[in-house]
Amino acid sequence: MSEAVSRRSAVRLLGALGATLATAGCVAAVPPGAAPRKASPAAGPAGQPAGTARIDALLGRLTLDEKTALLHGAPDPAPLGQAGHVPGVPRLGVPALRLADGPAGVRVAARATALPAPVLLASAFDPALAREYGRVLGREGRALGQDVLLAPMVNLIRTPFAGRNFETFAEDPRLTADLVAELVRGIQDEGMIATVKHFALNNQERGRDTIDVVVSEQTLHETELRGFEAAVAAGVGAVMGAYNKVNGTYACENKALLDELLRGRWGFDGWVVSDWGATHGTVASVNAGLDMEMPGGTHYGAPLREAVRGGSVSQDTVDLAVRRILTTMDRFGLLAEHPVARPTRDASAGARFARKVATAGAVLLRNEHGTLPLTGAAARSIAVIGPTGQVPFVGGGGSAHVVPDAAEAPLTAIKRRAGNGASVRHVLGEDVYGRALPPTLLTPPADLDDRSVDAGRRWSHEGTFTLAADDEWTLIVHYAGKRPVVRLDGEDLFPVRQGVAEYFAGGLLGAAPDGLTVRRHTRALKAGVHRLAVTADGGDKGLRFRLRHITRAGRAADVAEAVKAAEEAHSVVLFAYEDATEGRDRTSLALPGGQAALIEAVTAVNPRTTVVLNTSSSTTMPWLARTGAVLQMYYPGQEGAGATADLLFGDVDPGGRLTQTFPVEERATPVGGDPQRYPGVGGRQEYTEGVHVGHRWYDAQKVEPLFPFGHGLSYTTWAYEKLAVRAERGGLRVEFTVRNTGPRKGVEVAQVYLGPAGSLRLDQPVRVLAGYRRLTLAPGQAQRVTVDIDARTLSSWDPDQHTWVVGSGPREVFAGRSSRELPLRARAVVASR
Ligand code: BGC
Repeated sequence: MSEAVSRRSAVRLLGALGATLATAGCVAAVPPGAAPRKASPAAGPAGQPAGTARIDALLGRLTLDEKTALLHGAPDPAPLGQAGHVPGVPRLGVPALRLADGPAGVRVAARATALPAPVLLASAFDPALAREYGRVLGREGRALGQDVLLAPMVNLIRTPFAGRNFETFAEDPRLTADLVAELVRGIQDEGMIATVKHFALNNQERGRDTIDVVVSEQTLHETELRGFEAAVAAGVGAVMGAYNKVNGTYACENKALLDELLRGRWGFDGWVVSDWGATHGTVASVNAGLDMEMPGGTHYGAPLREAVRGGSVSQDTVDLAVRRILTTMDRFGLLAEHPVARPTRDASAGARFARKVATAGAVLLRNEHGTLPLTGAAARSIAVIGPTGQVPFVGGGGSAHVVPDAAEAPLTAIKRRAGNGASVRHVLGEDVYGRALPPTLLTPPADLDDRSVDAGRRWSHEGTFTLAADDEWTLIVHYAGKRPVVRLDGEDLFPVRQGVAEYFAGGLLGAAPDGLTVRRHTRALKAGVHRLAVTADGGDKGLRFRLRHITRAGRAADVAEAVKAAEEAHSVVLFAYEDATEGRDRTSLALPGGQAALIEAVTAVNPRTTVVLNTSSSTTMPWLARTGAVLQMYYPGQEGAGATADLLFGDVDPGGRLTQTFPVEERATPVGGDPQRYPGVGGRQEYTEGVHVGHRWYDAQKVEPLFPFGHGLSYTTWAYEKLAVRAERGGLRVEFTVRNTGPRKGVEVAQVYLGPAGSLRLDQPVRVLAGYRRLTLAPGQAQRVTVDIDARTLSSWDPDQHTWVVGSGPREVFAGRSSRELPLRARAVVASR
């Protein structure tokens, strides 16, 4: 709740908070199971939606003020904590619209199911699961009073540094497209309007508001656009324009993207909404095809009305934007005379599904000497290490953060599963919330741990403390109320930043277990006297705060305690985290803080150590060889603890495979070592890796990854046999046998890759992902798998002809367990067209 509220205040700071009319009773819904119409293939030229008499009549009665009011967000008289609101036109029966984030659960002030992050869903390689995920989002969104869901995010994972990789799916365009289509269908099956975002190329947070992404036509079509195109083909109701520029023009005023491509070529007939604050002008935006400004009406309020009156924007253009919104609302039953009641939320169904996804997508990266699953002695004596073993890491930060129903600590789930006879002990290993400053350290003495300041009162402390030796301190303030001002040697350690910068500063460990907001500051301190001043202002509602610290000695003591616990236990489960959020990129691919050193120290005394990673994207692992096992859980949602225990003890087989390549080191990625590619130079970046995104780049450059795309171990073993490929129905039919050769039932993701065509004079990947099949097989069981490679997969985008061209002639087909483990290979001839 506090996160949602602080998010709202951040938006308010930006000058516009979503709002809604209290018209819950007059908002319509589609009856369960009644899927909304698909995008109309009969949409008119360049996106003219097929008009209906009903919409025509409405348009005829709306005044210019009413029309423009439908084209931008406005304050909500009864906010539910959602991101946006558009007031309706009550006199004509047009209801208000509420728009809520987001990709990993419905983000409102109320509790909702915090689902595993989309990247974890994607790792299951299971479009049917994505559909179910969409249905849970859609149903909850409707139940929580929302009409539009600001999800899915489909921007490709282009660099592991990008702060929002957990919110999206994959580095692979094909996998992304498959999952997006089903997710959109799932959301919309429930009568909720999905919004595919951020169109296009918002592949990083650094400079996202202004960066100019320079990309070739072929690259654009063969990489980033695939997911958006699939969403449109699946009938998505809305598209969100990105913050950044694309080839010199802001995405939200980019005619080539919005008008020519999205509407003209793809036939999109829904509406385009700006990202929050991504509209830069009035005339250029509306004429380019941006229909709705969010979150307020800076450009689409009075300035748009003036532009219409002055003639720089035509009435027809405004009508067209309004028509797109109303037509979509109508398609989802929102303009119905007798609205269908909203469903009630089924929290336990949401929780069950969250756990299913978390196990289906978990990726077992390494498992040596049978470290996992924990059985026998290994399951009876366990040291659980790490702060996130105790405080569950549920989801990423930013607009994707959801207020969960509840979230169990992994420690609790492990204890329960290990049972009464087992010894399960937790040690912190790394203290992220700090220890109290001893009152006697300070001169004059002061107790800064858990102080309260009443509303309207102030409290301050000014004094010194003396350090006998140089040290590194992390000062940590926990507070509820107005943030206290803490000055160390004159420097304000926790300055309040403006708007979203403040909102995004906290990250996920930005809240203590008891809900207080947390800010940290690390400084090297010299031996000698230091000045500390604290001013606490009770403000309107009172303040509770504590000032804590961690010293080098404290850190060493935590590691020593962890080492001792690891020595005494048979096995170790070490929870490691990385705290990513919208609004900022990662500055390193290493685990933050002292975690690498902790892993080194613990594994040195106990090699039966499993590292569980609650991280957003790929991580470098210099410590890997010392570990017994590594289980990638990403941000596992509110049921992550139970799911992790299911996997650790082998109650389920780890069902996930990597949807992104893990690099050996930071420079060895498709954008590494070239600032022009990432993060950009002088406000501009170039996607010169071309069509070689993700695993394609590692293949093209012959770079060895730490873990390849598609990698993931199972508790059983697999064999691939008897590949046959033949031309069929304009594509290729691929058949092969997958056999479970191990002693346990298991899950396998069989993958098919395709080599380039000699007939095309275009740059082509060494191999593209052409299809996959998720299988569950009993020990000894074999299954014949069929994967059809369609004409699109066989094609490249020809920038001279501005269209897809099929790569005919001999093509190589590969099948196996990952992009780098492809035991089967065959050749087939694709007929020329
Ligand atoms: C994000 C969007 C989000 C919007 C509304 C923006 O900062 O980029 O993904 O939907 O806020 O919360």
